[in-house]
Amino acid sequence: ADGDAAKGEKVFNKCKACHAVGEGAANKVGPQLNGIVGAPAGQVDGFKYSDALTEAAAGGLVWDEENLAAFLAKPKDFMKGTKMTFAGLRKEDEIENVISYLQGF
Ligand code: HEM
Repeated sequence: ADGDAAKGEKVFNKCKACHAVGEGAANKVGPQLNGIVGAPAGQVDGFKYSDALTEAAAGGLVWDEENLAAFLAKPKDFMKGTKMTFAGLRKEDEIENVISYLQGF
């Protein structure tokens, strides 16, 4: 992404209640997010996904930058039935920056 990873680290503070990244990252309310950019959805070991996410994954959803950006803007619009209870990131640059940050893991 053409975002700023350092700024993205601050944006990730909004995600941290539910997600971890980095060495030893464990699942919390949400799955750990190491390697998530470009990965197929719904594949984190030991995490119990919603039916909605499980079905999207079975349908071949991949977290490329475009899908990730759309999901993070409005999770519940992008994926009806997701259990990610997060309103979304309102600003385009926040989305780009957090994706750049996540690409580092
Ligand atoms: C799922 C990112 C905020 C809870 C996911 C997934 C991504 C993601 C990429 C899909 C993972 C996969 O397919 O393996 C983010 C980012 C956030 C954020 C970047 C901040 C901008 C939150 C917050 C919560 C949360 C604040 C809790 C209140 C969850 C849950 C799932 C999930 C429960 C599983 C969804 C399901 O099974 O339907 N998140 N998330 N996330 N996230 Fe987040």
